Amino acid sequence: MCGIVGYVGKGNAQDFLISGLKRLEYRGYDSAGIVTLSSGGNVTLLRAEGKIVNLENKLAKNKRKDRIGIGHTRWATHGEPSESNAHPHRAGNIYLVHNGIIENYKELKETLKKHEFKSETDTEVLAALINSFYGDGKYALADAVVQALKLVKGTYGIAAVSAKNPEEIVVARSGSPLVIGVGNDVTLIASDASALVGHTKHAIYLNDGEVAVIKKDNIEIKTLNAEPVSAKVEEIETNLAAIQKGGYEHFLLKEIMEQPESLTETLRGRINKKAGTVHLGGPGLSESELRKIKHLVIVGCGTAYHAGLLAGYFIEQFTPEITVETVIASEYRYRNAYIPKDSVALIVSQSGETADTLACLREIKKQGIPTIGIVNAIGSTIAREVDGGTYVHVGPEISVASTKAFTSQAIAMVMFGLTIAQAKGVKPGVLRPYVEEIVKLPEEIRGVLNDVKEKVKSVAKQYFDYDHAIYLGRDTAYPTAMEGALKLKEISYVDANAYAFGELKHGPLALVDDRFFEMTLVPEGILYDKVISNVREVLARGGHVIVVTNAEFDLPVENIIRISSDLKIFAPILMNLVLQLFAYYMTVAKGYNVDQPRNLAKSVTVE
Ligand code: G6P
Repeated sequence: MCGIVGYVGKGNAQDFLISGLKRLEYRGYDSAGIVTLSSGGNVTLLRAEGKIVNLENKLAKNKRKDRIGIGHTRWATHGEPSESNAHPHRAGNIYLVHNGIIENYKELKETLKKHEFKSETDTEVLAALINSFYGDGKYALADAVVQALKLVKGTYGIAAVSAKNPEEIVVARSGSPLVIGVGNDVTLIASDASALVGHTKHAIYLNDGEVAVIKKDNIEIKTLNAEPVSAKVEEIETNLAAIQKGGYEHFLLKEIMEQPESLTETLRGRINKKAGTVHLGGPGLSESELRKIKHLVIVGCGTAYHAGLLAGYFIEQFTPEITVETVIASEYRYRNAYIPKDSVALIVSQSGETADTLACLREIKKQGIPTIGIVNAIGSTIAREVDGGTYVHVGPEISVASTKAFTSQAIAMVMFGLTIAQAKGVKPGVLRPYVEEIVKLPEEIRGVLNDVKEKVKSVAKQYFDYDHAIYLGRDTAYPTAMEGALKLKEISYVDANAYAFGELKHGPLALVDDRFFEMTLVPEGILYDKVISNVREVLARGGHVIVVTNAEFDLPVENIIRISSDLKIFAPILMNLVLQLFAYYMTVAKGYNVDQPRNLAKSVTVE
């Protein structure tokens, strides 16, 4: 959601800004803009509604060799997506880009009568506020920024330049990430390290409440209270190959197909195959602390929430005397929920920046409950604020719809559950089948993906003109169905909803008609007979049924997608691969933008 880039160095700022914004496209946006300054203070401000290509078209007629500039991709919050609402926003000599939300912008606007507002954005209010301190020359840019930020309520990651001083960029953060890339005679900024990859390997992650003055060969960081900060330079782990399509037509397909490798990274060094045990160093809980745990709260949004639901079903299977509650972060943060002592909270987030999830983390910490991050983005805010954590290490996930992160998040949480069960003295015979299946999972995923890909493609083509779908599953296949329906909804805009099979007669059965198809998950196992009866009920009403199964199945449904694997426990993870591919091929067949679906953002950094 919204992206920031900035450049100050000896090279061409416009080139970096455009390539950086393209790297951030995946976060979701609906307009874009850049501003560059010549050494004499001439300003080139270019903004365009829609995709970055529109900005590039304007750039073609406005090429400059400026050595400093900032850029932005905007995902509309205050005011529609339009050129006038696109960033950078100007006030006097100041140009500002901003991620986040200024909550008290209306009150602040009342005090800024001198400024003639040209947009509907909260960002322009902040630009005008900064300029109210800067305009008459009383404050340097950084000081004016600090004065303004002290009056602001809300979240921000900002970058500001002044035409009067075309040598420095001032950045600040509170709640919205900002990374400073350190190079030789060049300093870069970005809201996400992926924009820096290939330019530098060294980065400083700004903390909340910090302001930095950035020059090509110098970075000075202070807190809002003017205390100096000695910044830690960290290595950027991502490489170029990880953020490119690697021969695939879309990032989504690449990310689905690379799950054998991404899950291998999640498991690396964490499993003792011989002993059949799991060892996670990151959570930092001692054996006795693990033994005491009676309750797990799992918090996430979207796909991360579904991964938590799925993991919860598994953890309850093998861990005695433990309850698991998986909650949607945007609800939980306002629920005033009592968390019993002896609880641990798992904070699940691919990006590590989701605003609601982060807010829950902070609320839960206030209650003194230990927090464990299940996070992908290294160095992200959630990863830094949790008490301990397990990175899932799936590498950058570029497509807005999350796929490989889901698989690894669910398994990482199951592994955390296994460490609790081990500490509680659950018999190795109970836990070993889980560990053995986890070890086999990456290769089984590879096998299933290769087996079913063409079949799923041809099935998806048959349903491409449907706009309604029901996804059905029971037990661990129920959260799997929820995730499958979300995938389809997100990218192919099919009105897909998931239900627990047992709820069929309580409502969803009324929906069965020729406008809907039913995606049904039929895993082998104790509930198999019940699920078969449920499928019969749908068929009896003329349902258009697709079955995904690893079991015997001979009912006359429209399509069967068979999964051939020895895995029993984690079969739903394999079924989810089918659902991921199905959503992908439906979207391709419908001709929609696979990697950047309309209205959605990869990283939802505002509430
Ligand atoms: C957005 C993304 C989803 C993601 C969710 C939670 O909605 O489009 O793919 O599952 O946010 O994101 P997180 O980064 O916290 O896992």
